[in-house]
Amino acid sequence: MLRRVPDDYDIDPGRWRAHDSAWLRGGDPFGHVAGRIVSADARPVLDVGGGTGALGRALPEGWPVVVLDTSVSQLRDAPAPKLRASALALPVGSSCAGAVAMLWMLYHLDDPAVAIAEAHRVLRDRGVFVAATISRFSDPELTDGYAPTTFDAEDAPTIVRRVFDEVEVVSWDAPLVDLPDREAVVAFCRSHFLPREAADRVVPPVTLTKRGCFLYARK
Ligand SMILES: C[S@@+](CC[C@H](N)C(=O)[O-])C[C@H]1O[C@@H](n2cnc3c(N)ncnc32)[C@H](O)[C@@H]1O
Repeated sequence: MLRRVPDDYDIDPGRWRAHDSAWLRGGDPFGHVAGRIVSADARPVLDVGGGTGALGRALPEGWPVVVLDTSVSQLRDAPAPKLRASALALPVGSSCAGAVAMLWMLYHLDDPAVAIAEAHRVLRDRGVFVAATISRFSDPELTDGYAPTTFDAEDAPTIVRRVFDEVEVVSWDAPLVDLPDREAVVAFCRSHFLPREAADRVVPPVTLTKRGCFLYARK
């Protein structure tokens, strides 16, 4: 059985926050999603599992975005408007959102298709759905492979196509993360649930090969 990635944001907030966006070569990836949303003039945006609201910060000022998340500690740092709610039962009427984002969060669910169906329900006709996830084969410098999850890049297109007819997959496979020193490598391992010994595989500074994908769909 596929395992879901542990949802530990209120139990161990320091784990996810050990990741430092300064390591990202070429800036953060939210600009890609924001660009698609703006070019589709998709509003309002529901950033489901939006954490601390990184997507909203990449959108033009004033673009209507609501962050929905189950974690109290994540929501504490998210900009308003924000709502404590689960992706599995969105407290939103049908056909009212211009875009629904589920970025790096569907792997926390036993059955991501339930949340994707919720996204489909709340989207207006031709509304934009976007998900993002990591590949099992990301960070090969540190691991021989992550265990398969309920929503990794290998299976994600098939899962989204169960709900949406038109799905575009935008993959990445590139040197995208620069870890300057041992402290950064250890912090990266912690943020990705890798054992501390994984840090011994590399001599910093090191660049990690990131693999994963965005999935874009229209209702
Ligand atoms: C890796 S973080 C990603 C946050 C944000 N999307 C980003 O990319 O910065 C995953 C987020 O999903 C949230 N989450 C987990 N299960 C959820 C659920 N059932 N409904 C809504 N949010 C959930 C967590 O609390 C966490 O904030």
